[in-house]
Amino acid sequence: MDERELERALAALHADQLVAFPTETVYGLGAAAESLDALTRLFAAKGRPTTHPVIVHGADATVLERYGHGFPPSAEVLASAFWPGPLTLVVPRSSRVLDAVSGGQDTVGVRVPDHPLALALLGAFGSGVAAPSANRFGRVSPTSADAVRAELADAVEVVLDGGAPAIGIESTVLDLTSQSPTVLRPGAVSAGDLESVLGGSVQRAARGDGPRAPGRMPAHYAPSAQVELIGFAELPFRAADLVRSGARIAVISPDSVTVPGAVFVADRLDHGAKYARELYASLRQSDAARVDVVLAVPPTGTALSEAILDRLERAAGPKPR
Ligand code: TXA
Ligand code: MG
Repeated sequence: MDERELERALAALHADQLVAFPTETVYGLGAAAESLDALTRLFAAKGRPTTHPVIVHGADATVLERYGHGFPPSAEVLASAFWPGPLTLVVPRSSRVLDAVSGGQDTVGVRVPDHPLALALLGAFGSGVAAPSANRFGRVSPTSADAVRAELADAVEVVLDGGAPAIGIESTVLDLTSQSPTVLRPGAVSAGDLESVLGGSVQRAARGDGPRAPGRMPAHYAPSAQVELIGFAELPFRAADLVRSGARIAVISPDSVTVPGAVFVADRLDHGAKYARELYASLRQSDAARVDVVLAVPPTGTALSEAILDRLERAAGPKPR
């Protein structure tokens, strides 16, 4: 760990500037959660509508007591089972939570990330750090320090480099303010994992209902290229058609493939951890290679495949223009 960089990052947070830091999911763009100046800078840098809530990150479960209020006992149970880890808990907010953090809602999302650099920064800072993924609004989340710099350039004061995140897709978001616990965004902590700790059933939110959640809008996590989901058996035919029509194509696949004419192929990703780890870098690489269409064969049958499919479907969603 680079102590000097960490000191610089800490000073930047104290000065209401933005610091990008690695987590086990994706890179976050951090701002002091209790400073309106810092939050204003954060929303401007991301180009994000101010009505969308951001997650408050802390070094330990005290983040729940500090920013949550009147939450159910299950919140503490889940925090001790899954933190540090890829689970965001949405609970009623305390008076410390600024409207800019909650998007004006009466709830707040909190999480303790599982990454040594993030924990060192958060522990030294002492209070909460609001951090959305370190990309421009609607775009692919960054899974490298270079991707953060490419997305945000001058808007971020310090970028802490922690290499490639171990998981590669964003945390599971669990709403504990509804009738029964509801997964707003699937992630590496599966509904089954949550159910086995809670000893009760967990709902999955249908697209488009519930609180405003940018990660739940139809077009999100999207590269510039058009993303098309496709079955493994159809892939060669669709690819050949596209190549014949002059399109630049990329392929993402769990299994090994040979696609004549493809500009970029990410295959043998398997159906779980590796696919999640490499998905966003593959989408970025497709854009860098000026690909027109990304043909993605979704993974199936693993704990992570639901979360990966969710991101692929959003990447394939209609683009806001
Ligand atoms: O893995 C992650 O969660 C990463 C890393 C950096 O921690 N962060 C992240 O933040 O993905 P962001 O802002 O890109 O996505 C946060 C998601 C959004 O879908 C947001 O709407 C939801 O969490 N969220 C945050 N606070 C919420 C709240 N009070 N109610 C409902 N959803 C909330
Ligand atoms: Mg995001």
